[in-house]
Amino acid sequence: MLKIIQKVGQLSFELPQRWLDRAFGNTLNPLRHLGALTIFFLWIVLISGIWITIFFHTSVVGAFESVEYMTVDQWYLGGVMRSLHRYASDAAIVTLVLHILKEFVFDRHRSVRWFSWVTGVPLLWLLIPLGITGYWLVWDQLALYVALVSSEMLDALPIFTDSMARNFLSADALSDRFFTLMAFTHIIGLPTFLIFAIWIHVFRINRPKINPPRKVMAGALLSMLTLSLVYPALSQGRANPALVPESLALDWYYLAIYPLLNYWPPATVWVLLIGFSLLICIAPWLPPARNPAVVKIDLENCNGCERCVEDCPFGAIEMAPRSDGKKYASEAVVDAALCLSCGICVGSCPTATPFRTRSALSPGIDLPDQSVATVRDMVTEATQGLEGSRRLVIFGCDGSNKPEKFIDTETAVVNLTCMAQLPPSFVDWVLSRDLADGVVLQGCAHNDCQYRLGAKWTEQRMHRQRDPRLRKRVDVEKLALLWSEPWSDFPNTAAAIAAFRDTLSAPYKISDHETSARVGIRKHRLRPFGAAFAWILFAAVSVVFTIWPRFSQLAEGNAIISLTFSHAGQRVEECRKLTQEELNKLPPNMRKPTDCPRERHPVDVLFSTDGNVLYEQSLLPSGFWKDGESTAYYRMELPAGSYELFIGMSDSGREEGFDYSSQTEFTLSEGQHVVVEFDNLQKTFIFR
Ligand code: HEM
Ligand code: SF4
Ligand code: SF4
Repeated sequence: MLKIIQKVGQLSFELPQRWLDRAFGNTLNPLRHLGALTIFFLWIVLISGIWITIFFHTSVVGAFESVEYMTVDQWYLGGVMRSLHRYASDAAIVTLVLHILKEFVFDRHRSVRWFSWVTGVPLLWLLIPLGITGYWLVWDQLALYVALVSSEMLDALPIFTDSMARNFLSADALSDRFFTLMAFTHIIGLPTFLIFAIWIHVFRINRPKINPPRKVMAGALLSMLTLSLVYPALSQGRANPALVPESLALDWYYLAIYPLLNYWPPATVWVLLIGFSLLICIAPWLPPARNPAVVKIDLENCNGCERCVEDCPFGAIEMAPRSDGKKYASEAVVDAALCLSCGICVGSCPTATPFRTRSALSPGIDLPDQSVATVRDMVTEATQGLEGSRRLVIFGCDGSNKPEKFIDTETAVVNLTCMAQLPPSFVDWVLSRDLADGVVLQGCAHNDCQYRLGAKWTEQRMHRQRDPRLRKRVDVEKLALLWSEPWSDFPNTAAAIAAFRDTLSAPYKISDHETSARVGIRKHRLRPFGAAFAWILFAAVSVVFTIWPRFSQLAEGNAIISLTFSHAGQRVEECRKLTQEELNKLPPNMRKPTDCPRERHPVDVLFSTDGNVLYEQSLLPSGFWKDGESTAYYRMELPAGSYELFIGMSDSGREEGFDYSSQTEFTLSEGQHVVVEFDNLQKTFIFR
């Protein structure tokens, strides 16, 4: 099942990736830099956020005004910064979702990669609340909705004794102190944790790609800037607790779960969120990946050159002081828990050369399941019996289109785990021993190596830019590097191989999109119009789900009544005056004249309209000793119209009747938000 889902997912990625390769060229395709692009968008968010903070007023009254000032009066700078802040946050979610999906469908989340995957989950739990608290700070109608629903969610957790949502029911209930706390959480708290969490997320990876190429950054920034100028981010009217707006432009990237609270209780939504996060966390073991044997060091052949440490994409090798008394300073040591058995280190080891015939072919580091000696045997066997003057040996790898389809009388195929598992000396060996007339290395597409750095190291080694280098004597006209998508690129791959084969027998003119008989083939160049179009499309996707579809909190023609108060029930037992005798028995510092048992009665509440009971609860006192206040909070939606409202409350534990009650005729108009409270001083109910 997992395999089918992954294959479908891979195809869904490959086609757009191929198209974007054509627009952006081989190395600038944004779909191949998703993690790094997410970080870049977060940089834009951070820098624009600093600007906004300078002009922002951290108060209930000042927040909305200050954001409006930036948006309207200072549109050319503050407004642009605000829009950049908003849209880059949304763009970060778009690239993040693609990043997660891509790691999943290309199976880059299991085995030793579980660490990167699992540490990604807290990033979601930081990034989404970061966006949510941001919307909160604008203090417009959307902010009010977000604040109310978020606090209803928090109220469902057994953390707070009082109801947090009560703070957002009337304009005077919200304090500046609370607002300052929110601003601190959004501006300092969550970003600090996020930066730390991103560092943990990538710290086990060798050379993580945390910055996209400059041209990709420029494209991303330009697209966000253009969007900010063409469609500036706006507020949605000053927050007014007495009115429910007809509809809101909900940012679905951050707030998609909020509408669920119209249908489900907050506890259910929490179960859903926590359950989903746990499911993501255990995904690397559903089912567990079957790990091939990890690489083994052969100290006899390890000279401590450190190339394997440099090249391992997963930081699985370290150098340690020499343990066998040889003259070299250090030796390579493999951490089996980090090794993915990709073999890239084998390709980097200077002792892994097929020319070794005098001694057994045992390099300093080797894959037990597909040793260098085995690969040499595979090549010898596969090339035996090749015919003609245009014989090819094609090396394929795990992530590439398995090239078996090309096997014929003039083509041999050898499949490796990763292309960089092949030491460059193999190319020399194949050609100098006349096992074939040409060599094709057919690896995963550019910047998308299944083992992160395999394609990059292979290119550099074959271009003689990185050790171990392809020897000078090798005629590069007889070597082709072919980086292609595994599934969807087959016709192009076939054409490229056929064209390369032709060059082995005839002079060939190099052109874009086709095979050149040089190291490094099938080059796409940046096409500015195609790239600009792709960025415009991206900007459109980033904005569209922040405004559409609009969300209505209320069904048409309805209004809201919120019932809310905190009230302490009477004590279960009356206070009693202690006798002198009892007082004498107590230590002097504990001689209080009265003994008041702390426990209080629950507060019973009943709320009805026209005789229909809408809310009936026995609210327990808060606190460990059951001596605190009981809190009522209930939001209900009713059709607009006139009602006979009744509310009764008893705090004395009486079985029948109410200690306090109120009955009143009330007319609810559409979109109105009425709050029913209890005034603890006047001991009466208030409707506002
Ligand atoms: C703010 C959010 C995130 C950012 C900025 C981010 C960024 C990155 C970066 C820069 C890399 C290194 C890419 C490379 O050099 O090959 C990476 C790797 C990875 N990320 Fe994320 N990531 C985020 C969230 C997530 C989440 C939520 C998940 C999954 C639940 C995830 C899964 C992975 C995996 C599995 C890798 C390892 C890829 C490999 O070993 O080839 N990331 N991420
Ligand atoms: S096989 Fe791959 S993951 Fe393992 S040590 Fe070598 S390069 Fe690193
Ligand atoms: S590349 Fe080979 S020789 Fe060099 S340290 Fe690693 S195992 Fe030893």
